Amino acid sequence: MTLMKHLKLSAAVLALSATTAVAADVEVLHWWTSGGEAAALNVLKGDLEAQGIGWMDMPVAGGGGEAAMTVLRARVTSGNAPTAVQMLGFDITDWAKEGALANLNDAAAENGWDAVVPEALQKFAKYEGSWVAAPVNVHSVNWVWANKKLFDDNNLTVPTTWEEFEAVMATLKEAGVTPIAQGGQPWQEATLFDSVVMSTGGPEFYQKALIDLDPEALGSDTMKQAFDRLGAIRANVDDNFSGRDWNLATAMVINGEAGMQIMGDWAKGEFVAAGKVPDEDFLCFRFPGTQDQVMFNADQFAMFDQGGVVSEEQAALATAIMSPTFQSAFNVVKGSVPARTDVPDTDFDACGKKGIADLAAASSSGNLFGSLAQGYGAPASIKNAYYDVVTAFFNGSFDSQTAAEELVTAIEIAQ
Ligand code: BGC
Repeated sequence: MTLMKHLKLSAAVLALSATTAVAADVEVLHWWTSGGEAAALNVLKGDLEAQGIGWMDMPVAGGGGEAAMTVLRARVTSGNAPTAVQMLGFDITDWAKEGALANLNDAAAENGWDAVVPEALQKFAKYEGSWVAAPVNVHSVNWVWANKKLFDDNNLTVPTTWEEFEAVMATLKEAGVTPIAQGGQPWQEATLFDSVVMSTGGPEFYQKALIDLDPEALGSDTMKQAFDRLGAIRANVDDNFSGRDWNLATAMVINGEAGMQIMGDWAKGEFVAAGKVPDEDFLCFRFPGTQDQVMFNADQFAMFDQGGVVSEEQAALATAIMSPTFQSAFNVVKGSVPARTDVPDTDFDACGKKGIADLAAASSSGNLFGSLAQGYGAPASIKNAYYDVVTAFFNGSFDSQTAAEELVTAIEIAQ
């Protein structure tokens, strides 16, 4: 072979191996399947594609990730773990305990994650001092999303107490509008109940009952009262709620079929995707009685260890997720707020700006609490026991007193 030919061949081999290295796909297991979620996911896909990294989609719908976690367990058991997985709080810790997650310390050190990720998230993103997940956002569950025209037409103002909230529901009902758009899946009812418990009992009660799992608090009169209030909300839901997806409930508020939805701020992603604007088309406010609290969950991406070391694509995905410009672009579309504390709120709409300010205020005043329904209160077995009792109550199986008693028993068994 002539020298020239040899050089050409080596260059070609080099180019080929370089393309193969950067063109490797990441397979991402997630539950972002609604219109707003898909739009946010596209921001992430686009970011990776620009780096030559392909995307293999593995969607498993269902907020709180219960269904996605079942699929994940089956995949890992059959020796075929996906590259990266959307995960919440205690699920991350549980997989890290099993030694299944890749160590992201190099990417974290290179990009200074320690200094910019709040302590409340690091508690779950790190295991035994090592980074095992990259947090992409902070969501919170204690929000109400309302149709502005329906509020204006019925002379309604934003309710700030439970009594005012009941009055708003009554006015909407009288006007022939479904007051509350609710989806009928256990995780949705439990996500709503998180806010009701906080509002009814206050932050100390929420901590005692749903984080510390104190049996006395779980079975207390306050918990019974929280179920009474959940029952009052149930009485303002339409007859067809059973099985409804959360984003279809959001669509009812967007279209003016229903007045309000009590849901995490992923609901805002649906308003944004429909071209709706806060304070013009819709209102966002904290669930009455929880104005000072932020009940959070955070979507994080954990990388499954594919043989000891973090792969090039996994490191690139983690680094992309943690870039400040990406965190702004992604969360503007997703409805959440950045997981980094140093991202400016410039590009966010009024609800996003409020979300960012609320998070900072709650975090410095001791009012930041993990959402039990969204995996940041207790491990999955307890979360699922909570789902079972709340959904049984919502579907008429128990009265409030029995529901509080069932909660004590179910959580005790799950521990
Ligand atoms: C996730 C959100 C998601 C929502 C509904 C929550 O558990 O944290 O990112 O949009 O479920 O799918």
